[in-house]
This record gives sequence, C-alpha cells and structure tokens, in this order.
Amino acid sequence: MVPSASCRPGSVLLWALLLLLSGAAAPQEPEEPDSYTECTDGYEWDPDSQHCRDVNECLTIPDACKGEMKCINHYGGYLCLPRSAAVINDLHGEGPPPPVPPAQHPDPCPPGYEPDEQESCVDVDECTQDLHDCRPSQQCHNLPGSFQCTCPDGYRKIGPECVDIDECRYRYCQHRCVNLPGSFRCQCEPGFQLGPNNRSCVDVNECDMGAPCEQRCVNSYGTFVCRCHQGYELHRDGFSCSDIDECSYSSYLCQYRCVNEPGRFSCHCPQGYQLLATRLCQDIDECESGAHQCSEAQTCVNFHGGYRCVDTNRCVEPYVQVSDNRCLCPASNPLCREQPSSIVHRYMSITSERSVPADVFQIQATSVYPGAYNAFQIRAGNSQEDFYIRQINNVSAMLVLARPVTGPREYVLDLEMVTMNSLMSYRASSVLRLTVFVGAYTF
Ligand SMILES: *[C@@H]1O[C@H](CO)[C@@H](O)[C@H](O)[C@H]1NC(C)=O
Ligand SMILES: *[C@@H]1O[C@H](CO)[C@@H](O)[C@H](O)[C@H]1NC(C)=O
Repeated sequence: MVPSASCRPGSVLLWALLLLLSGAAAPQEPEEPDSYTECTDGYEWDPDSQHCRDVNECLTIPDACKGEMKCINHYGGYLCLPRSAAVINDLHGEGPPPPVPPAQHPDPCPPGYEPDEQESCVDVDECTQDLHDCRPSQQCHNLPGSFQCTCPDGYRKIGPECVDIDECRYRYCQHRCVNLPGSFRCQCEPGFQLGPNNRSCVDVNECDMGAPCEQRCVNSYGTFVCRCHQGYELHRDGFSCSDIDECSYSSYLCQYRCVNEPGRFSCHCPQGYQLLATRLCQDIDECESGAHQCSEAQTCVNFHGGYRCVDTNRCVEPYVQVSDNRCLCPASNPLCREQPSSIVHRYMSITSERSVPADVFQIQATSVYPGAYNAFQIRAGNSQEDFYIRQINNVSAMLVLARPVTGPREYVLDLEMVTMNSLMSYRASSVLRLTVFVGAYTF
C-alpha cells in the first residue's frame, strides 16, 4: 500500500468544475495545487491536515462485527476477529510500515484522542483513566474527545457540587413524602395504600382485609366502622356487639312482662291471657273458646284472667228457679212475705286499679207501671263500702265503684229495686245478685 497512490488523481478537475458551476471562490491555498481531496475507500479527507485519514470503522460502523467477534481497525478497512485472537502489534515489527497520512510529518491526535496500535486516533476514556476533574459527588461521562461531569439522578448541580433534590418540595406525593438521598418515597395515611404509580394513595377496604368487626363492617374513605345487627349495640371497643336489653329501656314495651332475647325481646302474658299485637295482653274467654271444664249442670262465667263454673240452679229455698238466672219467691209461700219477690243472678268482671269513681253496672227496671216509683239501693254484700248507687231516674240507676280495688277479688252485691205506687199502696222489691270479679291485673 502506497499512501499517496491510494488517493485518486484526476478528481481535481471535477472539484474545480463544481466550484466554477457554483460560482464559489477558488481555494485559498494555491501553493498546493496538487493536493488530493478524495480518498480511497477506508480513508477520508481531513481538511485540517489536508490529508487522507484512515477511517476507524470499528467506531463509525454500528455493529461492525456481529456476534462475539471483536473489531480491529485496520488501515483502509477493519477486521473481525474472535475475541480470543491475539492482535500482533506490528508497529515495531518487521512487517510493512504502517500507512501514514498523506502529509510527510506524523499527525498528532486531537485533544481527547490518542493513537492506538494502528496509529489511528481513538477516544480517550478520561473517566476510567482518572483523567477527569469530576467531584466525588458527580458522575463522569465519557464523550468522544472529552468527558462530562453530571449529577446522578435525584441530584442537582449547585456550584461545583451535586446536592440532593428535595423532591418532597414539589408535591409529588398525595399524602406524605419522605426525601431520600437521590430519590424520595411516598407514604400514605393509615387506611390508605400507595397506588400503582407509587404516589397517589388509594383507600384500603379494611372490610375485605379481615377488619375485626364482630357483626357488620362498613368500609369508608380511609377507615371503616363496625356496625351491629338490629337489637345489638356497638361495644365501646368499636368492634364487638352486645345485645341491647330492650326491656330495660322502657316499661311500656310490654303490657305485662318483657323478656330480653339475643337481638330482640318478646312480651309475655300471664295465665289466662293471650298476646295481642305483640305487646298487649287480652283475656282469654275460656267459656267462648271451649277451654273450660264446666259440667252440663253448670254455667261458665268468664272473667279477667280466668273463668268460673257456677251451678245453673242457684235458687235457695223458698225461691224456685224460673229461668237460667232467675229465682222467684212464690207469693203463695208465707216465707216470701218479707223477701224480695225475685232474685236475678248476674256476673261481671273488672280490672284492678281502675280510676274512681267508675260506673261499673247499670240497673234498669224491666217493667214500668204508671205512677210507680223505683228506688235502688245496695241491700247486702261483702264490702259494700267499695261501691255506691247513683240513681239516674226512677227506672234506672248506676252501680259506681268508689275506691280503687286490687284483685284477684270477688264481690257479691245484692242490688235491690223497690217499686212503690203510693196511689195503690203498692210496694214490691226485687234483687239483682251481682257477682263482681276483680282481675289480678290492670288489663
Ligand atoms: C412502585 O414501587 C415498587 C416497589 O418499589 C416498584 O416495584 C414499582 O415499579 C413502582 N412503580 C412505579 C410505577 O414506579
Ligand atoms: C216514674 O217514671 C214513669 C215512666 O217514665 C212515670 O210514668 C212515673 O210517673 C214516674 N214516677 C214518678 C213518681 O215520677
């Protein structure tokens, strides 16, 4: 290889022609009219040195050697050799002298380059060869012909030094920010977790993650609350539920007895009563329902909380029975002269502790005679003091409860009606034998 012969003569003409056509000025170095400006393949024209210069294909051609081959630049070309191949440095050997640039004097490499074994200029890696002046806080980046001192990610150059950027000042995080050397980390308030972008915070559904609610769990933004089923209340700990004793809240929940149950309550009634509309107690009419034990010869009498079987024939000598509840004293019987002519049996039931005075029973004369006058009185009975008679007119009167009474208790009162006709000097008496049952309860 003869260096000067490698350049193609004859191209000067073409070059001059191009200059003429473009109207540009002629080259300003007329003292070298024979200089060559085009070079053979593998060389390039260097206008600074005015020489053809070997091209380092290992640097300029991307992936000059495929695979595991290493690229060895060579004058006018390059070689791909296995990495293990030894490269014989023939600079000082006996091989042909290395090609030199067209100029007679050797060409020094520009700053940042150094000649390699093949005398071509290769970049000096100032970073690895410790030829840089980067600070310890800086990173050195090799560049073709030079190097650069840069700051690592998350650092910023202030003066000659790289200082950590406080990313937290730039509100990168939705909740909390922790600055770290060269970086930062976002944190979330309790009840939240970092979103996929590591910056925003998303609500944690604690209910799906085993929140310790005993009965019900309700997730909410940032937290959760425990709730309890109806009839339970949340314990002070916020998690467990305890049964509400509804019965302790109000004595009006049940008319008779309130029974607390887990999560609810129920009302109970005393014997002889049935529950009505969940809280009220209603007397069972055993006589009506057929639940009584009265015999054929008896009449069933219902009262609050129970019933009574009374003999249908209640008439005592000298009275004789004339109907189910009516006894008559025959006028023909001398024993009947001073007795009321009839006794009628009646039954009634009242509750305990009625407010007084209370009208409880009205007596009415069944037959009215012209000019007759009827007077009413309590003729006999146990504890007549608890009652009195209020006459309404001359044919009717009212039995009035005078005092509050508490059952269970039973009164038998003989209410007498005396009929007088002054014109005819007529006087007649009849009795209503009233049995008053007082129940044990106020209902
Ligand atoms: C978020 O942080 C995790 C753990 O450090 C990481 O694996 C993931 O790539 C980060 N995601 C984003 C979007 O930065
Ligand atoms: C009693 O009432 C009846 C019927 O209203 C009447 O005929 C009679 O005259 C009354 N007697 C007296 C004394 O007012």
